[in-house]
Order: sequence, then C-alpha cells, then structure tokens
Amino acid sequence: MTNFDLYNPTNYIFGKGQIAKLSELIPKNSKILLAYGGGSIFKNGIYNQVKSALSGFEIVEFGGIEPNPRYETLMKAVEIIRNEKITFILAVGGGSVIDGVKFISGAVNFEGDAVEILKKRVLFKDVSKVIPFGTVLTLPATGSEMNSGAVVTIEATQEKLTLGGSALFPKFSICDPTVVASLPKRQLENGVVDAFTHVMEQYLTYPHDALLQDRFAESILQTLIEIGPDVVKNPSDYKLASNFMWCATMALNGLIQKGVPSDWATHMIGHELTALYEIDHARTLAIIGPNLYRVLFETKKEKLAQYGERVWNVEGNSIEEKAEKAIRKTVDFLHVMGMETKLSNYTSDYEKSADFIVNRFEERGWKAMGEKQNITLEKVREIVEMSY
Ligand code: NZQ
Ligand code: ZN
Repeated sequence: MTNFDLYNPTNYIFGKGQIAKLSELIPKNSKILLAYGGGSIFKNGIYNQVKSALSGFEIVEFGGIEPNPRYETLMKAVEIIRNEKITFILAVGGGSVIDGVKFISGAVNFEGDAVEILKKRVLFKDVSKVIPFGTVLTLPATGSEMNSGAVVTIEATQEKLTLGGSALFPKFSICDPTVVASLPKRQLENGVVDAFTHVMEQYLTYPHDALLQDRFAESILQTLIEIGPDVVKNPSDYKLASNFMWCATMALNGLIQKGVPSDWATHMIGHELTALYEIDHARTLAIIGPNLYRVLFETKKEKLAQYGERVWNVEGNSIEEKAEKAIRKTVDFLHVMGMETKLSNYTSDYEKSADFIVNRFEERGWKAMGEKQNITLEKVREIVEMSY
C-alpha cells in the first residue's frame, strides 16, 4: 500500500428531514448567497424547505447555474459576493451547482484574472482566502458534496477544466435521500453510471497490496449493480434512494483512492466530449470507459479478471477470458442503465472528435495518462475512434 494522508473535513449530514438543520450549521449573522440551478428546486419543494430553515438569515439568491457550469455565469456570482459582502454560500443542487460554488468560493479573493484558476489548475489550500460554503445535495452522482474538486466550462473557448484544493471541501453537506424522488429518469441513470465509473477509475488499474481498498471498491460496485436499475424505476423507495446516495458519496469522497493507483483517463477524455457536444457527463463515461479497458487490456487484464470474478461472478479458464467477460458484463450493465455506448448515437458530427481531443491534450502537455502513464496520444486516438 502506498503512503497516504486522509483529510476530509466535510460535516456529512444524512437522512430524511435533515434540511431543517441548516440554521444550526451556518454561522449566525452570516449573509448568505443561496446558489441554485435551473429551477428544479422550486418544483420539488426543496427551495421551500431551505427557505423555511433559513428564516432570520439575510439571503441573496443566485439562480441559473447551468448543468456543466459556465465560468461566465459563475463570475456574475463572484461580483455579487464582492458587492453585497456575502460571508457564506449555500449550494442547493447537483454536481454542477456545487462545483460552481467551489469555483465562486475560490474566485472571490483570487488575485489576478480568475480564468487562470482553470487554465493553470490553481490549488486552493488556504481556507482564510476562500468563502466558506455548505451544500444541500439534490442529485447523487458526483461526490462533489464531500470532495474538494470541481469541473467548470469556459464557454468562450469550449474548455471543460478542473479546479480544487483542500480549502474547497464543503463545510457541511446535507444529503436527504428523499430528493431522489423528483429526479428525471435520465438523471437517475446518469447518477448511477457516474458513481460506478468513479469507482472503476480508482479500482480498475493493476493488482496491488491495498486489499481493503479493493473490497471497498467492489462493495460499492456491487451495491450500485444491485440497486441501480431499481432506483430508476422506483426513485421514491427510500431504501433504494438512500443506498444510491451513500454509494455516490463513497465513490468519490477520497476514501477508496487512498493508498492505491488510479486512472482518471476516462474522465479526461469524457470531459472533452461534453465540451464538444454537450453530452451528459455520465454518458461520455459510458462511451469511453469500455473502449479504454479494451485498448489498455494488457495493462488492466489482471484487475479486470478480479473485477469479473468478484463483482460479476464470471468464470473462465484464463485471465484473458475472465477479463473479456468482465468488459462485456460492464457494457451490458451500462445498457441496462439506459446508456448508449457509441458516440454516433449522440451526434452525426463525431469524426472530428479524435483530432480535436488529441490536439487539445497535446497543447496541454497531457501525453502520458493512466495509472501506468502509458495512455499516450496514440492510445487516446485509438480509444476515441473505437468509440465512434
Ligand atoms: O438545474 P436544475 O434545475 O436544478 O436541474 C438539474 C439539472 O438540469 C437536475 N436536477 C438536480 N437535482 C434535481 C434535478 N431535477 C429534479 N429533481 C432534483 N432533485 O438535474 C440536471 C443535472 O444536474 P447536474 O448538477 O448537472 O448533474 P450532476 O450532479 O450529474 O453533475 C454533473 C457535473 O458535475 C461534474 C460533471 O463534469 C458535470 O459538470 N463532476 C463533478 C465532479 C466532482 N466535483 O467531484 C466529479 C464528476 O466526475 C463530474 O466530473
Ligand atoms: Zn464523473
């Protein structure tokens, strides 16, 4: 097992009715920016719950944070915070609103052009320099409610870039599984597949000594396989919704990544497909993931075989046979979860993507990715072209 530091200061508050605790969690006398997305919170009652829990606080509202939040939109909130002397931000939404708030939190006191936060992947480490924030999660998927990373799109240049740092953990996150009931089918499917792929990125590498981490990862995968198809059909079933929400948080709150190698190339390539075609994040992962496993078969086959045996109960006479069966099982599961696994299912303009992505990665100097740093630009091209 490799050395690690495990730091996660987010106060995670889980369960029915927990939104009512907001007033105890936000410092008294705070002036709050209440940040949200396109308005789903008005239809499902979450806005009313938040407002009644915050009676007595001074609140400025900022709505309209898009899915795949835009730098240009977020900068408007940065201005409001500076002008209105806001002292606390409350993100009410899914990964996009929470990620947007992480960017806003860091950008308010950032010296220089805030676009550099994204272009130079600035790490925020000093909590005294960021605006504190909490979250009310409305969509289990990203784990953003309990991690310090975020992804923001620059509209002007069609770039989807990451930011983060230890100062950008939420102070608290309220995770009430009853919010799952109002999610559209598409978002439920996305949430399960995003969480599933987060585990795969941190697990599907090569055999190592971190035995417990493998078992954690496999248990999250198994739970998502068990509940995923059902939660899409019955999102108001509390047992399914609560397990879904906890799995999504555990998939990317840092725990399963400790002491092990990780990949993340499926995400890096997937972000480009969202930037280019506005395909939902999870759906880009379903397009790329299986083809990445195929192209990196020699690197990943031992772990694929372990995953096949332990998670899918596959049998076979060789590592290769079990590994191939594991990929097939994964693709079948993605289909059951409502994913299309070919880029041409989403756009007829797919042929430009390989050149575009390879050029972008070259410009950024991303020439060796993956757990063994052996995902070269040639391999990226092969993965993308295989995904057409
Ligand atoms: O905007 P509103 O009106 O709220 O509607 C949203 C949005 O249209 C809707 N929604 C959310 N909660 C709802 C609801 N509709 C009905 N009932 C509810 N309870 O769902 C739509 C999608 O929301 P979004 O926040 O975009 O989805 P998700 O949580 O999947 O977040 C995706 C974003 O997170 C990034 C992705 O790249 C993408 O930009 N990621 C963030 C990560 C992180 N911070 O660690 C890791 C991930 O890998 C991912 O990259
Ligand atoms: Zn993801």
